[in-house]
This record gives sequence, structure tokens and C-alpha cells, in this order.
Amino acid sequence: METVRFGIIGLGLMGREFASAVARWCHLPEMAVRPEIVAICSRSLSPKVVDWYTGNFPSIGQVTADYREVIHNPAVAAVYCAVPHNLHEAVYCAVIDAGKQLLGEKPFGIDRKANDAILAAIARRHGSFVRCSSQFPFFPAVRRLCDMIEMGAFGTILEVEAGFLHSSDLDPAKPINWKRMIETNGEYGCMGDLGMHVCHVPFRAGWIPRNVRSILSNVMTERPDSGGKMVPCKTWDNVTLLCEAVDSESGAVFPMTLKMQRIAPGEKNTWYLTVLGTKAAARFSTKNPKQFRVFHYTGGDQSWQDIETGQETAFKSITRGIFEFGFSDAILQMWAAFLYEMKEGKPIGKFAGCVTPEETALSHRLFTAALESQERKTVVEV
Ligand SMILES: NC(=O)c1ccc[n+]([C@@H]2O[C@H](COP(=O)([O-])OP(=O)(O)OC[C@H]3O[C@@H](n4cnc5c(N)ncnc54)[C@H](O)[C@@H]3O)[C@@H](O)[C@H]2O)c1
Repeated sequence: METVRFGIIGLGLMGREFASAVARWCHLPEMAVRPEIVAICSRSLSPKVVDWYTGNFPSIGQVTADYREVIHNPAVAAVYCAVPHNLHEAVYCAVIDAGKQLLGEKPFGIDRKANDAILAAIARRHGSFVRCSSQFPFFPAVRRLCDMIEMGAFGTILEVEAGFLHSSDLDPAKPINWKRMIETNGEYGCMGDLGMHVCHVPFRAGWIPRNVRSILSNVMTERPDSGGKMVPCKTWDNVTLLCEAVDSESGAVFPMTLKMQRIAPGEKNTWYLTVLGTKAAARFSTKNPKQFRVFHYTGGDQSWQDIETGQETAFKSITRGIFEFGFSDAILQMWAAFLYEMKEGKPIGKFAGCVTPEETALSHRLFTAALESQERKTVVEV
């Protein structure tokens, strides 16, 4: 089996999710390639965090607070970057310029200018394999919905609704952190955090927003800092984007509503997608992660069907087909998709690949237009 040696830059929440997926690689018995972690980097090297990595991954030979040392380590072939958004441009460009393969986290640049710079680095380094993370398309029910898109089963698209809702910021006493500060998280606010997850399937389907009218809300205008003192909190908490979208295959124009909320009462981590067409309709929400709701219009009853999904994964796993699928399974599948596409030159299926740099660029055009729409209180071309 081929081994790809990875460095991880950013050892927080997502760095650990990747490491855990690496530890569970034996779950995927048919993979011809596997990742190995050889270097780790974080600005603050707390012993507890470093011990977790080095204790679980004896393959780690480099521990550093300077990301340039990882990038110039000849043992490192590929890098996973999971750092705050203000660092994406500098770190991703340096990784690409050093000729390493990259899986970067969203939003792939704090703003459109940073995203342009990352895409320019990719263009000047011909042959680099660069992708952005997005795990929700790997839920089996979403795969079924995507199969229907590929087969043209929906007929003419009438309407699409997609969203990602959290209640993580509902508590006004939750201290501010980098994700709630414009300097580190960006002007996009929750669009930068949650938006790429919402856009990935629609963009891959070829449903392109032509214009947008946005409503952005900053619900909690201040939060306590780590010492308990109230400080301004200026990031957008909740966003609704009403887009006029065009189906690039059929030319049909339809409304597409995209929601990203960090203050959504009753929602813990709800990613959803609803597609309504003239021949069929389908719904999925992580609230009921096994359930795939589908409607085939046959001219008779208006009848929805609930299908229970199990482990119908893009990459075969050792888990029996009847058992349910979860967040960390989706992360593992996404990593399999990254390595598969890197090795084979194309994804295993149209919807079973990570976000492309071009798709991130489209998301930045949309989010920049959404900021302008909010400012001018009008519809803005994307
Ligand atoms: N795919 C997903 O579901 C998902 C979920 C959460 C976050 N994310 C994305 O992952 C990225 C990281 O988010 P997180 O939640 O892991 O954040 P985090 O705060 O948990 O971790 C960030 C890490 O970056 C490190 N860091 C900061 N400055 C650094 C520097 N100069 N050099 C090296 N390391 C540095 C920090 O020490 C920390 O270890 C963001 O882009 C975020 O949008 C993705």
C-alpha cells in the first residue's frame, strides 16, 4: 500500500479529527493509499496537546511552532492546514509554493483577495493537488440525493434550500474567541465558518447563483473576554441568502435559499438540503441522519417515502451495512476521497470529492456579493 506522509498545521479541533481518521484507516479495507502523520505544528505547543499527538502517533518526527519548518521538511509530502482564517493565505500559499499537496480548511482565505492569492499560487505551481475540506456530502442519504441529481431524476429544478444551523452561540455568556472576531475570522462572519458546507453540493450540481439578496444579523453585539470583561463582538451570527440560481445543465432558473446560522435555537449541528423538482423531490437533514426523504411524482398521491440508510459509503468500510453513519465517519470518508483523488487523478464519483479551489472561488464571489447586498439593501450580481 502506498503511504502519503502528512504534516498537520493547526492542532485544534480539526487537526485532531484528521489525526483520529488516520488512526482509524484500517476501517477502509480497500484503500490503496494511506496517510501517515510525520510532522505537527501549532503556534502554542501545549504539552497536553503535543502528548496526545505524539503518544498516539509514534510516526511523528517533527514538532514545531513554525509552519515553515513543516513545509520545508523533505519527509512531508502533503499538508493538512486547520488554522484560523486570517492565516489561510500565507500558510496555504507557502505550502503550495513548496510543492506539497494540500487539504486546506474553509473558507480557503479570509476574504476574496486572500482566496485569489491562493488560486494564483495553485496556477503558478502546475500539478499541485489542492482541495478544501467538506464532509457532509459523504452521508449516505446525501449520496442518494446526489445520485438523483446525476441521473436527472428531479426533472426541472423548482427550488433548492440548503443550510447549516448551530446553537453554539446562543449562550450570551460564551466567551469570545477567534471565530467571533473580524480580524481572525473575517468580515464574512458565519458565512466563512459554515458557508462552504452549504454551497458544496449545489455548486457541484452546477447550480450557480447569479445574484443574491442577503440578510445578515449580528445578534450578540458583545461577549465576555477570557477575563469576563464585555468586549464588542462584530461578526455576523446569522445569514440568509436568497439567490436566483441557474442550473448550468438545463438553463432553468430557480430560487435557491442558503442559510448559515450560529444562533439557531434548538439546532445543535444541523446541515440540511432540500431539492424540489418537477419529477421528484428529496430532503436530508443531519437531525435524522439515517433518514432520506424522497418523493417521486407519479400523477397520483402526494406521497413522501422515508428510506432508512445505513453504511452505503463511497469508500467501502468494515462496518456492516445496517449500522448508522455519523460525523466522524463522514470525516474519514472525506479523507479517503482526498487521497483517492490525489492518487487516481479524479474522484471516485462526481459528488464524492472534496471542494475544488474553483468552487471556493465561487463561494467567495457569493459571500462578497452578500456583504454588499446587506450594505446596500438590494440585490447584487454574483
Ligand atoms: N470541516 C469542518 O467541519 C470544520 C469544523 C470546524 C472548523 N473548521 C475549520 O478548520 C480551521 C481551524 O478550525 P478549528 O476549529 O480546528 O480551530 P482551533 O482553534 O480548534 O484550532 C486552530 C489551531 O491553529 C493553531 N494556530 C494558530 N495560529 C497558528 C500559527 N501561526 N501557526 C500554526 N498554528 C497556528 C492553534 O494553535 C490551534 O491549534 C478553520 O479554517 C475552520 O473554519 C472546519
